[in-house]
Amino acid sequence: MSWWLIGVMSGTSLDGIDLALTRLHPEHGIELVDAECLPFSPELHNELKTLCQPGSDEIRRAGLAGQAWAERTARGIHALLARQQLKPEQILAIGSHGQTIRHHPELGFSVQIGAPALLAERCRIQVVSDFRSRDLAAGGEGAPLVPAFHQWLLEDPEHTRAVINIGGFANLTLLRPGQTVVGFDSGPGNILLDAWIQRHQGQAFDKGGRWAASGTSDLELVSQLLADPYFSRSAPKSTGREYFNAHWLEQQLQAFAKQLPEADVQASLLELTAQSIATALDSQASDCRSVYICGGGAANIRLLERLSDLLSPLEVHTTAAVGVDPDWMEAMAFAWLAWRCLQGQSGNLPAVTGASGPRVLGAVYPG
Ligand SMILES: Nc1ncnc2c1ncn2[C@@H]1O[C@H](COP(=O)(O)OP(=O)(O)OP(=O)(O)O)[C@@H](O)[C@H]1O
Ligand SMILES: [Mg+2]
Repeated sequence: MSWWLIGVMSGTSLDGIDLALTRLHPEHGIELVDAECLPFSPELHNELKTLCQPGSDEIRRAGLAGQAWAERTARGIHALLARQQLKPEQILAIGSHGQTIRHHPELGFSVQIGAPALLAERCRIQVVSDFRSRDLAAGGEGAPLVPAFHQWLLEDPEHTRAVINIGGFANLTLLRPGQTVVGFDSGPGNILLDAWIQRHQGQAFDKGGRWAASGTSDLELVSQLLADPYFSRSAPKSTGREYFNAHWLEQQLQAFAKQLPEADVQASLLELTAQSIATALDSQASDCRSVYICGGGAANIRLLERLSDLLSPLEVHTTAAVGVDPDWMEAMAFAWLAWRCLQGQSGNLPAVTGASGPRVLGAVYPG
């Protein structure tokens, strides 16, 4: 028995909507058949970014942005199905994460917009959405949710492995044979690197980490940034744009005694991401054999070099080494989470999120 499922993820970097068409074989894994990243229009991108901070008339604006997000996603799914000559009836479900515009686990809520009913209406496929709120209701962080998928897909019966997803934020999953999975957000991934290069070079991201590589990281700045209490907090923990953002960076730089060249700031931000990941891993896994990186950060060559140096003698690979394209891991995870929901099976790992127990995640919008 196998099923077609579509996973949809639109992450904190706001780089677009990832679609992953998958074929799930419950006994032996999940196959990625087709995938695409749908870019946002500049208007939708700006509106989603603005909605991540408190602002006026935000309920109406969030309603409209959620609809625009669903329409964009539906058009992408129609094109994907046409390309693969598949009909909506052949797809078991769309697992749609939506776009996070606020994540407040300390207050018990996390808001993803993406009009799942509209998506079901447009695609005529059942949609599973709202994956985080049940975990939050059970006292969890509602995040990260990918570790259960990492475990299902990549656990090795003999060796300890770490999977690190570097998106806007970075999250770590530690898979020890036969033991409870450890997972949490280590801190910012690309979010500050994107913000700084956007502001000073007008680019969306630092391709290959080349601008960072042209500068020199400043030890004092890096240690000041790493002194933020988030990094020393113990897990379970998760974070988002409401905490680490351009304003946070601004305040840190104001409090810093020296004026640094812009490229040195970029190098220091890359060092922050690399060191916070390495420290998080060191604190958990002296027995770890191999580290697999996924998410957009896997394409940042400079970041991978720094991680390899910091984690040496551990071997650092991308998840391509274990047969999973690093760009589509998260979207595939939401296809899998939708399937878990429809099977009535839990999707969270209580040891990771801090929830009081395993819970079936998601709400179903019939096709
Ligand atoms: N070639 C590249 N070189 C350097 N960085 C890259 C490259 N390609 C992508 N990135 C970085 O990856 C980011 C996108 O990564 P990804 O899509 O995994 O994150 P996300 O959508 O925020 O997801 P998450 O939910 O995991 O935070 C971009 O914003 C950019 O910073
Ligand atoms: Mg993305």
